[in-house]
Amino acid sequence: MKIRWSKYVNFYNSNDDVILFHSVNRAVNKIMTKDLEKINAYLRDGITDVDTKNIISELYVDKFIVLKEEKEEEEFRKVREGRDASGECLVYFIPTFSCNFRCPYCIVESTEHEAECHSEIASADDVVTMAVWLKEYVLERGLKKLTIELFGGEPMVGHEQNLIFLKELSTLKEEGIELTIHMISNCYLLTEKKIEELAQYGLKSIQCTIDGPKEIHDKRRILANGEGSFDQIIENISILKEKEVELIIRINIDQENAPYICELLDFLEEKGFQKSAVLGIAPVDPPITNEAISGHTAHTMKYLEPIYKKLKEKKFNFRLWETFCGHGTRDFFVLCPDGKLYNCPSFAGLKGYEVGDVNAGGFYKERPGMHDIPDKCYSCSLVGVCAGGCFFTKTVHQLGEQYCLKLTHSAMAKNYFLARYGS
Ligand SMILES: C[S@@+](CC[C@H](N)C(=O)[O-])C[C@H]1O[C@@H](n2cnc3c(N)ncnc32)[C@H](O)[C@@H]1O
Ligand code: SF4
Ligand code: SF4
Repeated sequence: MKIRWSKYVNFYNSNDDVILFHSVNRAVNKIMTKDLEKINAYLRDGITDVDTKNIISELYVDKFIVLKEEKEEEEFRKVREGRDASGECLVYFIPTFSCNFRCPYCIVESTEHEAECHSEIASADDVVTMAVWLKEYVLERGLKKLTIELFGGEPMVGHEQNLIFLKELSTLKEEGIELTIHMISNCYLLTEKKIEELAQYGLKSIQCTIDGPKEIHDKRRILANGEGSFDQIIENISILKEKEVELIIRINIDQENAPYICELLDFLEEKGFQKSAVLGIAPVDPPITNEAISGHTAHTMKYLEPIYKKLKEKKFNFRLWETFCGHGTRDFFVLCPDGKLYNCPSFAGLKGYEVGDVNAGGFYKERPGMHDIPDKCYSCSLVGVCAGGCFFTKTVHQLGEQYCLKLTHSAMAKNYFLARYGS
C-alpha cells in the first residue's frame, strides 16, 4: 500500500515528542520523535517493525497519513461547501455604526468614512422590518438554527435596538428554531441589567477586547473624549464571573503592545479571570486608512513565545486564531442599520460592497464577492485555519496573488499547539 503524509498535517517539535495537527479535520496527536523518524524511514524505504506499523495505522484513521493517490483538495472543498447545507444561519446585526471609542486601528472606523449610514442608529420600525425579513429568510430556507452576533460600531450604543430585534426574533423558537446570541463589545457600557435583558433571549457569550495593561490599553482603546477605558471595562466584565454568559477576552497585538501582554496576563490572573474567561490572541489587521498599522509582522510574531508560555503557565483557557470565517457561505451575512446586507462584518457599511437590501426584498439576484480561495491554498498545510486569509484585507489593500498569511498562521499555530499540548 503506497502511503504518504497528508498535505494538511503540521509538525511541532516539543522536546522528545512531535505534535501533529491536521488543519482540515482538526485532529491532533502526539508521537515520539524517534517514532516519527521510523515512520519517515518506512515511507522512504518500506521496512519497519510492528510497533511502527501500529502507529501508522492509528495515524491513518485520522488521515494524518493517506493513500498516495488521495485527492485531499476535495476534502477541504467539501468542508467549505458543506457549510451551505449545515442548516445553520449566522447573522451579524449592527444596530449602529456609532461608537463611544476611537481605537486608532479600528477596522470599522475606517470603513465608516465611506458609509452613508454610519452615525445613525436604526429606528425601532426599521429594526422590526429587519427582524421580520430575517425570520422569513430562516423559515423559507428551512434552517434549524439561528445565531445572532451583536456587532457595531458599538452594539451597547444600540442596546434598545438589540432588544427590539431579539424580541421580534424570539418567536422563531415557536417554530422549533434554536436561537443563540453572542455579542462583540468594547464592554464600556455593559451593566448587570443589560446582561440580564440580553440573557432572556439566549445570550451565550460576550467578547471584550483588552489590549494590554492599563497604560498600554488606554492608549489604544480610547473613549471619544480621549480618556482611557481600562478600569471601567475590568469592573464591568467582572460581573460576568457570576453569570452563565461566557467571557471571551480578545487581545489585538502588534509590535507596540506585544511586549506588554505577559504583564496583562499576570493582572488578569490576579483578578481571577483565568477561571472565568477564554482568551484569544489576534494580530491587528491593517485598516483601510493605514496599511502600516499591522500585527502581521515577524517582529510581532517574536513575542508570541513568551505570551503563549505565560498562557500555559497561568492555566488560562485559550483558543487558536483563525481566518477561516463564514465569508463565502450563503447563510452567513451582516444586517446594517439602514437594512443593507453584506457578506462579512469587515465590509459592512463600505459603499459598493452591499449584496442586498432588506427594504428592497433582500439579497440582490447576483450576490457578488463570495470568497473564492486561490488554487495555491488548496495545497497549503494550514488551509483549514487560514482558508486563503481575510478577503477584506486582501481586497481593500489590493493585495492580489502575493497575499498570503503563512507567516502569521505558522507562528500562531505553532505557539498555540506547543502551549496546549507540549511538554
Ligand atoms: C470592529 S469591533 C466592533 C465591536 C466593538 N466595538 C468592539 O470593539 O468589540 C469588532 C472586533 O474587531 C476587532 N478589531 C477592530 N479593528 C481591528 C483590526 N484592525 N485588527 C484586528 N481586529 C480588529 C475589535 O477588537 C473587536 O473585537
Ligand atoms: S470600540 Fe470597536 S468599533 Fe469602536 S473604535 Fe474600537 S474597535 Fe472600533
Ligand atoms: S493564504 Fe497562504 S497561509 Fe493562507 S491558505 Fe493560502 S497559502 Fe496557506
